[in-house]
Parts: sequence; structure tokens; C-alpha cells
Amino acid sequence: MKAGKNISITIRTEKEEDFPQVEEVLRQAFAGEEEVVLVDKLRKNGNYISLVAFVDQKIVGHIFFSPARIKSSKGVEDALAFAPVAILPSYQNQGIGTILIEKGLDESRKQGHQIVTVLGHPEYYPRFGFVMASSKGIGAPFSWSDEAFMILILQEGALNGVKGVVSYPPEFGGF
Ligand SMILES: CC(C)(COP(=O)(O)OP(=O)(O)OC[C@H]1O[C@@H](n2cnc3c(N)ncnc32)[C@H](O)[C@@H]1OP(=O)(O)O)[C@@H](O)C(=O)NCCC(=O)NCCS
Repeated sequence: MKAGKNISITIRTEKEEDFPQVEEVLRQAFAGEEEVVLVDKLRKNGNYISLVAFVDQKIVGHIFFSPARIKSSKGVEDALAFAPVAILPSYQNQGIGTILIEKGLDESRKQGHQIVTVLGHPEYYPRFGFVMASSKGIGAPFSWSDEAFMILILQEGALNGVKGVVSYPPEFGGF
């Protein structure tokens, strides 16, 4: 796959041997340890989607999805919490994040997931089809900003009139 400036990118599922490099990507992209700790805890829960992006055999990007739920009066719907996504600072703004997110969403769709939620930059995620969750009657877990909490319907009709509140794994509690 080609990103901007003709960079060749390879994307594949994360392996255990990638963990140290992924941690470094997270540490540098977020300038701290919070996301390193979060991903480490979420991996232990299992049942996640984690992809890495390589440029010149080096991991420059990482994306992670973990199980979440939407609780409504009709019951509980499964969803995927998309977080985090990170690109090494020196590789940002070259289209790598876009390719990695599209691939991550494709993989989520392939695995049969129907709904993805994200807390993130409200100017960035709508290009992938995300809309404000509140516009679909879906509330955020914790006291997250309404504008930044977004949802993507991967399979038409997935929400099917469901309105409710998303529940994230407790590992997200500090965010
Ligand atoms: C956000 C991030 C994953 C995007 O990856 P990327 O490879 O830099 O993005 P791309 O090159 O594919 O896309 C560039 C676009 O992203 C936008 N973008 C990048 N960082 C952004 C930010 N913090 N807020 C809003 N938009 C942002 C750029 O403005 C650019 O927009 P344009 O296409 O309209 O010019 C990457 O910049 C990153 O790792 N940032 C630090 C960690 C982070 O914030 N992760 C997301 C948490 S929600």
C-alpha cells in the first residue's frame, strides 16, 4: 500500500514480538505512558483487534479495538471500542493513519462487528464515516465530551432503533 510521498506501508495483525516497538510508538505519539498501560491491560482481556503498520521493516503505527457494549432498554448490543491509534511523530501527516484506520475498520467489519465507537478528534474521524454518537441517541461512558464521542455503523441497520449508553471495559476508567 502507498501513503503520501510514495511511502510503502505493510499492515498486519500485531504479534507478541511487536509489543516493545508498539509501546514505543504509543509512548512517542502520546508523549507518556497512559496508552502503553491501557493497551497492556486490554490485551490481557483478550478478544481484541490490534494491527501494526510497517515502513522499511519498522513499526510506525498501531491501532487497537476492544469489546464494548451498548446498554439500552431493549437489552445489550455488542460494539467495538476503537482506541488508541498512534503513528510515530516523524511519520505523521503522511497518510499512514488513514490507511491504518481504514484497514482496522475493514478487519472489524470482516470479523462481523457492527458498531464501532471512538473518543477522539471531532475533525478527524468523520472522514471515516463516524458521526456524533449522541446524534444516534447513544451516550458516552464516563463524562466524555459529547462532540468527541463518535460512532460508526459497520452493518446497515445495526443499531435498529437502539438508544442507550456505551459501556467500556473498566480499564478505560482513568480516561
Ligand atoms: C491522529 C493520528 C493517528 C493521525 O495519523 P496520521 O498518519 O498523522 O494522519 P493522516 O496523515 O492519515 O491524516 C492527516 C490528517 O489528520 C489530521 N490530524 C492529525 N492529528 C490530528 C489531531 N490531533 N487533531 C485533528 N486532526 C488531526 C491532520 O490535520 C490531517 O488532516 P487533513 O488530511 O485534513 O490535512 C496521528 O497524528 C497520531 O498518532 N497522533 C497522536 C496520537 C493521537 O492523537 N491519536 C488519536 C487519539 S484520538
